[in-house]
This record gives sequence, C-alpha cells and structure tokens, in this order.
Amino acid sequence: MILDGKKMAETITGITKEEIEKNNYKITLALILVGENPASEIYVRNKNIACQKVGIEVKNYRLSEDTEESELLKIIDECNKDASINGILVQMPLPRHMDEEKVINTIDPNKDVDGLTVVNQGKLMGGLPTIPSATPKGVITLLKRNNIEIEGKHVVIVGRSILVGKPLALLFLQNNATVTICHSRTKNLKEMTKQADIMVAAIGKPKFFTADMIKEGAVVVDVGINRVDGHICGDVDFDEVSKIASFITPVPKGVGPMTIASLLENIVDCYKMQNK
Ligand SMILES: NC(=O)c1ccc[n+]([C@@H]2O[C@H](COP(=O)([O-])OP(=O)(O)OC[C@H]3O[C@@H](n4cnc5c(N)ncnc54)[C@H](OP(=O)(O)O)[C@@H]3O)[C@@H](O)[C@H]2O)c1
Repeated sequence: MILDGKKMAETITGITKEEIEKNNYKITLALILVGENPASEIYVRNKNIACQKVGIEVKNYRLSEDTEESELLKIIDECNKDASINGILVQMPLPRHMDEEKVINTIDPNKDVDGLTVVNQGKLMGGLPTIPSATPKGVITLLKRNNIEIEGKHVVIVGRSILVGKPLALLFLQNNATVTICHSRTKNLKEMTKQADIMVAAIGKPKFFTADMIKEGAVVVDVGINRVDGHICGDVDFDEVSKIASFITPVPKGVGPMTIASLLENIVDCYKMQNK
C-alpha cells in the first residue's frame, strides 16, 4: 500500500490552519536564503506558499552568495531579539565560506523551527520536550496516522545526518522501536536492511535500494530526493520494492509534503512556547 504523504500533509496543514485562525495567532517566520542555489530557491518558495496557506507571515531575507558570515549572524541576532519574529529558518546549504554549525547555533533555540541547534538536539537526546527537525517528525506522524505499529519493531535507518538519520533514530527509540543506524562505512548493508520491519532510506542516491535488499512485507520509508534527467526520484527503486513492501512512501508525494506540514507545526509550537 502506498503511504500518501501529500494527502496526510493536507490533513495536518488543515488542522494547523484551523488552530491559527481559531486562536487568532499572529505568527511571523524569518526565512533566510543565502545565494542562488536552484534547489534552495524551490524549497524557500514552497515554504513561503505553505506559510501563506495557513496564515503565517514570512519575512524573507535574500542575501547574495558573497555575503560575509558576520552579516548573516547580525541578521539572525536581530531576529532573535525581535519579539514580533517567532521562528527563524536559515535555508541550507550555506556558501562554503560560512560555518553552518556556527550559523545554526546563533539561532535562539526557542525560535529554531528546524530543531537543528545543539540545545534542541540535546533535548531530543535527553527525551525532553523540544522542536524536532521537521523531516523525522513528518516520518513518525505519517506512520502513526496510518496506524503502523512502531513499538517492538526493528527499524533500520540508512543515513546518519543531523537533519534526518540521527534525530529520526531518537524519535523511533522514544516510540519503543529497536533501531539500527547504517551509513557509508556499514559492512554488508544488504544483510542489515533485510532485517528491517521498517526500513528508512535517507542517503541521497537514486533508486539505490532494490527489492533484494528488503524483507517481504516490510514498511519502506523513502526520504531521498534526487533529480535525474529532470525528474525527481527517491533512494528506493519504487517499481520493484513496492511489489514486496507492505507499505511504501512514494517520491514525490511522500515524506516531502510531510516535512513541510511538520515545519508549520514546529513554527506554531515555537510561537506557543514564546507566548505561554
Ligand atoms: N523529503 C524531505 O523532506 C527531505 C528532507 C531532508 C533531506 N532529504 C533528502 O534525503 C537524503 C538524505 O539527506 P541528508 O541531508 O540526510 O543527506 P547527507 O547529509 O548527505 O547524509 C547522507 C547519509 O547517507 C549515508 N550514505 C551515503 N551513501 C551511502 C551508501 N552508499 N550506503 C550507506 N549509506 C550511505 C552517509 O553516510 P556517512 O555519514 O558515512 O557519510 C550519510 O550518513 C537526500 O536525498 C536529501 O535530499 C529529503
């Protein structure tokens, strides 16, 4: 069965919109884009559209590729201090001359809608209430809302980035799964993925995961977004793997829309934290 992330995201976005309207929340997101990376331009445009749909105002900052890091840090600092701004998102990747970690950790953790500051990552590690990054949150929501059991399942995540793999592993652990994390140095990857009740692909390699790497009846979550010959595909060979998986997310219309829906939830959560 196909896990329709687009439809689920529409449901969740509808709930978010209703909450904002019902409570008359006045929420503003600062959205900062440095440079002219075409993929980032698309992501920023989509985030603008999504915010507009639910009534979140966006203050866009467009900075040129050669902007000094100090200039970016100054803008973040101003947004941190500005009480009318409830969330700050710096679109990644940043130009090479900038230190991403330093930039991320300049964001006030209470306005960190991407959940990437060490403070919010640390809270996630400690099992404390926090803003988890949007993609892992979206994956868990998609599974839970489709009544897919997580507790006691063996989850194999391939990919260990701070954006996807690591926080997702922690969220699965919080939900009582048994978690294995694999990466580029994992030996016998196929032996690992074959054991998965729930297999998460997050490596950024088009159609890498073929049917022989997946257990019959497994749930397959494809986080990957790859552009091949003008088309978007995931890390999983969908045509083959969908024949043996019990559930599978498509690309597009799978995890991508869930990420945006979860980001909107995170922005509202930041607003609520600031206005307790
Ligand atoms: N759907 C969404 O909303 C969404 C959101 C974020 C990202 N994405 C997509 O998800 C993918 C992963 O993103 P990311 O930011 O996590 O990427 P990343 O930072 O590049 O991390 C990729 C991870 O995959 C591992 N890896 C790479 N090649 C491998 C191989 N052949 N075998 C096993 N592991 C391998 C790497 O291992 P090492 O650590 O050993 O290098 C690394 O941990 C990308 O396609 C990205 O576009 C989608």
